[in-house]
Parts: sequence; structure tokens; C-alpha cells
Amino acid sequence: MNTKGIILAGGSGTRLYPMTAVFSKQLQAVYDKPMIYYPLAILMLAGIKEILIISTPEDTPNYKKLLGDGSNWGIQLSYIVQKKPGGIAEAFIYGEEFIGKSQVCLILGDNIFYGKLDFLRNAIEQNQGGTIFGYPVNNPSAYGVVEFDADGNVLSIEEKPKSPKSKYAIPGLYVFSKDVIKLTKNIQRSPRGELEITDVQLEYNKRGKLKVELIGRGIAWLDTGTPESLMEASTFIHAIEKRQGHKIACLEEIALEMGFISLRKYIDTVNELPNCSYKEYCLSVVK
Ligand code: G1P
Repeated sequence: MNTKGIILAGGSGTRLYPMTAVFSKQLQAVYDKPMIYYPLAILMLAGIKEILIISTPEDTPNYKKLLGDGSNWGIQLSYIVQKKPGGIAEAFIYGEEFIGKSQVCLILGDNIFYGKLDFLRNAIEQNQGGTIFGYPVNNPSAYGVVEFDADGNVLSIEEKPKSPKSKYAIPGLYVFSKDVIKLTKNIQRSPRGELEITDVQLEYNKRGKLKVELIGRGIAWLDTGTPESLMEASTFIHAIEKRQGHKIACLEEIALEMGFISLRKYIDTVNELPNCSYKEYCLSVVK
């Protein structure tokens, strides 16, 4: 089953103002790379090569400037402008033509994951309708929250509930069948005027086609929504990179490792980079 990827990098990032006054949240630095590198790395590591980036009219040119057409990394990037914020699920309406007959993995541009990605590769391989993940957190009220029974059946899904029915937040990483377009067209806008991603999940659940996979130990899922959580994410990435000497979300390295580009192409691409520690790292990888 062919799987395409979508990165949603819209939103106004008001909680990060004034950092977001000039450029968007997903372009902010998480330690040594722009935030969007991290979700892009996740899709690439999941083996996805056709990726759509959806962003605002102001920011889309910046993403194009930063990432181009993806050919340096052996992937195909395309872009669509979301005219005004209308909810995460709008990504499937904007992406209708792009998705076509493929299943789709949507990742939010501000979601950072670190760890072994078998959970995602398995979900992509086994998905029948919709697959979401459940991740235990101390502050579930800040997220979509899933409640489930001992057999893994979903009992409820609520967006930012005041009294959460479980401690399992739903990270911004979803795998949906091609039917997601039809299902999204079925849902009503919420009182805040948005097509809610949680309503799409409920549509799948109504049809008995939603699976929730628990992830937690061994996987870090980091938030970047506030100045403090952004700094914590940077500190986390810094600590791992410094300790191990491996870079997280180095797109050139991932492209080489995944076999998306040849060694020749890798060396040519890296030689084009300006002199910086990122380039030094890329060169050291193939020494
Ligand atoms: C969104 C989703 C929410 C999900 C979260 C993950 O919320 O609406 O269901 O749990 O992303 O990051 P946002 O953080 O955009 O308010």
C-alpha cells in the first residue's frame, strides 16, 4: 500500500509571540535545526517519499526556500497554501488530489518524536482504516484524549477535555486510509469553526475502523507549543546529540541511510552546504 505524507505547518503560533511575529512556529529552532526538520525526518524514516506541506500564505514561500522540492534528499515535496486556519482535518480537503488513492500519514509540524519508529512503520503496514497513538502525559487536558477498554476498543475521544477520562494524549501523528477525504467531508465544523481531527477519528471509530496503539516508554514525544516546552525540546535534542555524537533529524544522513540517495549525491549535496557544524557532521558520517 502506497503511503503519502502530509505535514501541517499552519497556525499563527500566538503562544510563542513575539518569536512568531515574523516567521512561523515550525520554522523556529529546536536546538540546531528548524522545527519542521523533525517531523519531516519522521516521515522519511517511515519510508515515505511523497510529502505535502500545508502552510499559510505568508509562510509557504519560506518553507519552499528552506526545503525546496526535496530532490536533495531523494523525496518529492509539494506545497499547498491554507488560506485561513480551519482545523487540522482541513489538511485532507486541501490534500484531496495529492492523497488520491493512497493512505496518508499526517504529522503536525510542531510534533517531535524521538526513539525507535517501529510503532509507526507497523501502523503504516497494518492500518485498515485509521490508526492513532496513545501517549501517557501529565497534562492530558492540553491534547486530544483517548479512553479505551482492556481490549483496546476506543470508548471516547475528546479534544482538550477539562476533565480527561484517561491520561492518554493523542499525538499529532495519524495514519488514515484514503477514505479520510470522504469522512472529513461528512463532519461538521466545531463551535470554533474548525474541522477537528478528533471528529475524523470518531468517524472511523463509528465504523469500527479505528485502532489505537499505545506508545510511551522508549519513545519521546515532545511539545513545542510554549516558550518553555520549546526550550525543553531544544535541551533534550542537545543532550542526546552531545552524548551520542549522532544528529537527530539530519535529513541528508537519513536520505542516505534510507537509500533515497546515492553516496555520490550525498557528497555533492553536503558539499553545497555552507561551512557549519551541520556540514561537518554530514561529512563525518561518511569518513
Ligand atoms: C492538536 C490536536 C490534538 C492533538 C495535538 C497534538 O492540538 O487538535 O488532538 O492531541 O495537536 O499535538 P493543538 O496542539 O494543535 O492545539
